[in-house]
Amino acid sequence: MLPQEIIRTKRDGNELDPADIASFVRGLTDGSVSEGQVAALAMAIFFQGMSRAEAVALTLSMRDSGEVLSWPELDRPVVDKHSTGGVGDNVSLMLAPIAAACGLAVPMISGRGLGHTGGTLDKMESIPGYTAMPDNALFRKVVGSVGCAIIGQTGNLAPADKRFYGIRDVTATVESVPLITASILSKKLAAGLGALVLDVKCGNGAFMDNPERAQELARSLVEVAIGAGMPTSALVTDMNQPLASAAGNAVEVINAADFLTGKARDSRLQEVTLALAAEMLVSGGLAANSDEAFVRALSALEDGSAADHFNRMVAALGGPLDFLADPEKHLQKAPLVAVCTAQREGYVTGYDTRGIGLCVVTLGGGRTRPSDPVDHAVGLTGLLPIGTRVEKDTPIAMVHARTEDQVTMVRAQLRGAVQISEAATAASAVILGRQG
Ligand code: URA
Repeated sequence: MLPQEIIRTKRDGNELDPADIASFVRGLTDGSVSEGQVAALAMAIFFQGMSRAEAVALTLSMRDSGEVLSWPELDRPVVDKHSTGGVGDNVSLMLAPIAAACGLAVPMISGRGLGHTGGTLDKMESIPGYTAMPDNALFRKVVGSVGCAIIGQTGNLAPADKRFYGIRDVTATVESVPLITASILSKKLAAGLGALVLDVKCGNGAFMDNPERAQELARSLVEVAIGAGMPTSALVTDMNQPLASAAGNAVEVINAADFLTGKARDSRLQEVTLALAAEMLVSGGLAANSDEAFVRALSALEDGSAADHFNRMVAALGGPLDFLADPEKHLQKAPLVAVCTAQREGYVTGYDTRGIGLCVVTLGGGRTRPSDPVDHAVGLTGLLPIGTRVEKDTPIAMVHARTEDQVTMVRAQLRGAVQISEAATAASAVILGRQG
């Protein structure tokens, strides 16, 4: 079928067959389908949706648009986690080494931050010498020898998604459940995973701001992944407040280092990290149930083996040897660290979590366009969980900045993003649901 006939079929609410979807994706990849045609199909899908069978066909065609990895040399289950993105979400930095320490292989292909959400790759790149974009040989070597490698996506994994996402981004068609599903899963399927665990964020710092939409995305991701042959489960987790007490790049690495070495652990972050680790161990067949898996994950954290795996991964990818012995020695520091205080007494009762992410963008630690550089040193620390009692002038965060102007701007933004009220309210649970 011609591209315009494929667009017409979907525009009119009819089902596309897999061969037509495959031919459109081939044209998307080789450039023979124009940008206008891609945008038109994206908009038609945005309004008409897709059946699960269509979404599976789109996902598989996008997976097959480039290289598809496999891991025949590994004698361990290959499992990864993907998060739909949030603020203070540094889970991957702890989860990959915990899972590896428990016996999984974790080839974690991560993204950069965009807008208010942070990106795992930017965080890892704040470690001097760390090769976030290794060649395939080094990537495979590190996954084989250490058990985990957190790296960036190379151009030849699901290249159709790169072009499709770029066009969706500028045509207001990102927020479509089947398109998000195919975009995320095509890349994970191309990484050759045996199983996948998803962290679908829900709240005012996430893509999906209400539980119904988040559950809908989680269900779509799980059903399409299983339809495409990859066992998958999903947790829906709260993003109505930053997950860690830090937001930024180097500051989130320090937070993760403290978590791994036991110096300090944010409790909601710990709950999500261990729950996802348990999902990974069960789906990889290394534990019979989530209780057993949870105990194994916790002991990998407590006995230092997860920290050891993180250290070995960093060193194997070109970073400092024994990074965790003194992470602050290696990381860039912002020249100014200024306190932001509460302007009234009461309780922290809510966050504009997106606003907290945008504070990091104001500081230069996030980006508004994919090509923007990021400042690894800046960010926020000391963010307080919902429910915390504060007095007037109690610190509500520390601002790590380059200039006094940034401090002034971010103090005002922060105060607008942290709600303090007379009466305490309980934070919602951090794990809101499960699919799979
Ligand atoms: N993340 C992706 O990788 N793709 C989407 O479409 C949305 C979020």
